[in-house]
Amino acid sequence: MRIGILNSGGDCPGLNAVIHGVVGAAHTLGWEVVGFRDGFEGLLPPGDYMMLDPSKTVGIMKLGGTILGTTNKGHFVAKVGEGNVAEVPAEIVEKARKILDQLEIRALIVVGGDGSLTTGLQLYKMGIPVIGVPKTIDNDIQATAMTFGFDSACHSVVDALDRLHTTAESHKRVIVLEVMGRHAGWIALYGGISGGADVILLPEIPFHMEHVADAIRKRDARGLHSTLVVVAEGARMESGELLKKEDVGGKGEDRLGGIGEHVAKRIQELTGKETRACTLGHLQRGGAPTALDRILGVRFGAKAVHLIEEGKFGRMVSYQHYNVGDVSIEEAVNQLRLVDPGSEIIRAGRSIGVCFGDRAVGA
Ligand code: F6P
Repeated sequence: MRIGILNSGGDCPGLNAVIHGVVGAAHTLGWEVVGFRDGFEGLLPPGDYMMLDPSKTVGIMKLGGTILGTTNKGHFVAKVGEGNVAEVPAEIVEKARKILDQLEIRALIVVGGDGSLTTGLQLYKMGIPVIGVPKTIDNDIQATAMTFGFDSACHSVVDALDRLHTTAESHKRVIVLEVMGRHAGWIALYGGISGGADVILLPEIPFHMEHVADAIRKRDARGLHSTLVVVAEGARMESGELLKKEDVGGKGEDRLGGIGEHVAKRIQELTGKETRACTLGHLQRGGAPTALDRILGVRFGAKAVHLIEEGKFGRMVSYQHYNVGDVSIEEAVNQLRLVDPGSEIIRAGRSIGVCFGDRAVGA
């Protein structure tokens, strides 16, 4: 028996742990594994792939990125149409099917975020036996309580904030750190609280610059002359506008960026305090995965193989209640897990003095 695996979309720490888990579990069953390069693109003729066996994957778990390569561009990026239905052209899917048939691949593991899993679902509906593994550094897929890569990203945010604290304090400045988080502010929230941020701005909680400025002024009055602000890239300006670096016209996702600079400029205007902006960018996506992301990746990979063994195609690996189970890909896609403004974690943040910019300090 031979199975295939590909990574699709943006990379994140833990992808190699998934590959390690897949190859280990498959090897135990006596199966062969074909790794397709650069996401779904590797499925196009003549097929771009490598044979994976334990000798190729030993030691890869500690590496960031993916040994297979990945892309969030190319022929399989679905132009989302009516009802959020992926529309990869049928002739492209047929080309992929031909390669899979030629290589005698009996099941395909698709490791990807919402968009890639939507493409995986289309392939499944067109008769290709697909198993999904959720991958989103933003940790925003509703059907899984956690995805690998998120913990490593939060560690990078904490590391950045630890560094920014010392320079901000020395100069009595405000420093704004922009982090990833397109629809959901989990990285900003977890990284911000653990890194001791004073203000955290999320896509889910509309904020007012006046409240942010007020929080900074009140800190100053208490003798706290430096302030650290964390803002998720998907947080909107007061006008409701999302700041973008590139608009891709509906083909894939627009590149976000710029809210950190904007917030910093407004803070300086409103408070008169010297303010700097810093964008963490891809530093939070690169590098070695944390222990949590390694173990999650290995478990997700092994579970994907076990789902194939059970013939549970069209299913996605899912982490719930400390257990790795599965859900249907169809139910998992297009369902974002967002931060609930009324949740316990937001309350905990407020109780340790974090300002979310939605209300006056002390209100
Ligand atoms: O969706 C995951 C993500 O990391 C977002 O947080 C970010 O906006 C985007 O990917 C960046 O992608 P790219 O690799 O195109 O810069």
